[in-house]
Amino acid sequence: MRSSIGLSERLKSLDKGQNPFDKNEDRRETRSEAMADLEDVQTVDLMSELLRRLKCSQKPDKRLIFIGPPGSGKGTQSPIVKDEFCLCHLSTGDMLRAAVASKTTLGLKAKEAMDKGALVTDELVVAAVASKTTLGLKAKEAMDKGALVTDELVVGIIDEAMNKPKCQKGFILDGFPRTVAQAEKLDEMLKKRGTGIDKVLNFAIDDSVLEERITGRWIHPSSGRSYHTKFAPPKTPGVDDITGEPLIQRKDDNAEVLRSRLAAFHTQTEPVIDYYAKKAVLTNIHAEKAPQEVTSEVQKALS
Ligand code: AP5
Repeated sequence: MRSSIGLSERLKSLDKGQNPFDKNEDRRETRSEAMADLEDVQTVDLMSELLRRLKCSQKPDKRLIFIGPPGSGKGTQSPIVKDEFCLCHLSTGDMLRAAVASKTTLGLKAKEAMDKGALVTDELVVAAVASKTTLGLKAKEAMDKGALVTDELVVGIIDEAMNKPKCQKGFILDGFPRTVAQAEKLDEMLKKRGTGIDKVLNFAIDDSVLEERITGRWIHPSSGRSYHTKFAPPKTPGVDDITGEPLIQRKDDNAEVLRSRLAAFHTQTEPVIDYYAKKAVLTNIHAEKAPQEVTSEVQKALS
């Protein structure tokens, strides 16, 4: 069904002279064919997409990092900020889960660490981030053979992911960088592009609040929409509000694995917060507040 591809994606491919209804991004078709296909799109949809694009063109570019322990609300706030500022949302957790679901060697290696609540190695993360890019596929090839991914490739991979049209106005990195080594690699890459991180939002929260948030979370796997039995319940228990599809609980969302995830956060990710504090781009968010209050704080920090 055509509706599986968003109109905005179709218009982007038209911009590039491709057929916007062609699901195979690599196949190039003519602009006139694309225009003919667009005749099928409802005028009201076309107009609202054009208005959205016009609004987006007036937004300032933003390159953001959301950092915080598991359950602090990064994934809840990201879609709101993404829509408001027309950014792309790059979540390494989501990318790794997609790799796991695809049962590739990369995914199976990542699964082991994720199920235990440990961090996945830098090479695997970078390959997952970029698994749909040419360089990412090269990295996956190397890893599948047990070879190492070179630094040059690592830098190229993230660079390429950020070149995607949906990242044109900037990005939200959610769950990346998670170690100082990842932060340094990211900095190097952005420096070469003549750019840098504008703001890092630290979702600060006490560990004691997180068990209830994590054990009550339910997600809709294909969209990444997240719910909570107490704090953000779906209209019908166990069912996604938009698609009516079943919700699931993540395998690492239990009290025991949460302890390992928190330990990894305190030892490996907290130093990343200091790293950005020294660069004077860090803003602390009171992540223990109610979701709407957190949204207001985030919006204030980004205005
Ligand atoms: P990842 O998917 O990134 O998980 P995480 O960092 O543990 O973060 P979460 O998704 O659990 O929490 P969140 O802050 O997004 O919370 P949410 O908004 O959903 O990573 C998973 C694993 O992948 C890692 O453990 C690691 O193994 C691996 N990995 C990922 N990136 C990596 C990297 N770069 N390097 C190495 N390994 C990597 O909120 C949680 C719940 O609370 C929801 O139900 C929500 O409805 C509710 N909630 C949200 N805000 C509020 C509020 N203000 N009040 C009340 N309830 C709220």
